[in-house]
Amino acid sequence: MENVGYTYGEKTPFEHRALHQISLHIPSGRYIGIIGHTGSGKSTLIQLCNGLLQPTQGTLQAGEWTLPVKKGRGLHLLRQKVGMAFQYPEYQLFEETVRKDVAYGLDNMDFPKELISLRVNEALRKVGLDPEEIGEQSPFSLSGGQMRRVALAGILVLNPEVLILDEPTAGLDPAGKQQILQMIARDHREEKRTTILVTHSMEDAAFYCDYLYVLHQGSIYLEGEPKDVFRYPEKIRQVGLDLPEITRFIMKFNEEIKAKKQDIPPLPLDIFKIEQLVEEIEKRFARKRGGI
Ligand SMILES: Nc1ncnc2c1ncn2[C@@H]1O[C@H](COP(=O)(O)OP(=O)(O)O)[C@@H](O)[C@H]1O
Ligand SMILES: [Mg+2]
Repeated sequence: MENVGYTYGEKTPFEHRALHQISLHIPSGRYIGIIGHTGSGKSTLIQLCNGLLQPTQGTLQAGEWTLPVKKGRGLHLLRQKVGMAFQYPEYQLFEETVRKDVAYGLDNMDFPKELISLRVNEALRKVGLDPEEIGEQSPFSLSGGQMRRVALAGILVLNPEVLILDEPTAGLDPAGKQQILQMIARDHREEKRTTILVTHSMEDAAFYCDYLYVLHQGSIYLEGEPKDVFRYPEKIRQVGLDLPEITRFIMKFNEEIKAKKQDIPPLPLDIFKIEQLVEEIEKRFARKRGGI
């Protein structure tokens, strides 16, 4: 994106500028996180990435497409390459059976029937569902978490080069959240799929993403690897966000050892996994007690 802006309802009394001067480059194969307060422009930004919205200022290059294009020409092809899971994607399920719902996109692309069936099974397994068990059921007979996974299977079945997820875990219980995030992380690793995650959770952004963009009032406020973005608590709090819990812990820990003048090296700020944190702490205390 080069100086991309987006204005809703341009030249109407409802005109509203949602994005300003966004310049960014997302290389293939990365796992990008987009964070920011409600209304900061996250959903608008990602809808530009697959041509659902076209920039009203600046230009956007996505593979061989340069946006804006006149009359949306060829944009359906861009949308096949850039799969988008909206918030609450299960609201868009509508077919009589799970299998038909997941197959919907491929059916519209005139794929051979046998191949569709194979790909549907593969996509369902990928999201942790058994095609034999639920394939012929109505999607509406499933639990909320299962419906969400069926909806994600309907996107993955198209094997998009880029997968964009707008708050994919909203409204799920903690276990359901982790299942979905781990599934997405595995898919990203195995398929080397470029993945863009919009999330409210600083923990998830720090844990899963390689690189973060923090949006504030429609502009990029901060960007970088999680360890660099979360290095400045005041800056993050100024825009209504917080640090990941693990980073808050590390900062507190470092403050305490400093205040007590303890001879323990401070913990590095680039730890986002509990196991690694435990290991680092154990190392420090083992050393202090003479290796025990
Ligand atoms: N369809 C729309 N028409 C007018 N304004 C909109 C529309 N959708 C979003 N906006 C406004 O654009 C800004 C960015 O919204 P959005 O991209 O949805 O932010 P986020 O996803 O970060 O909550 C907000 O001020 C929002 O009110
Ligand atoms: Mg949004």
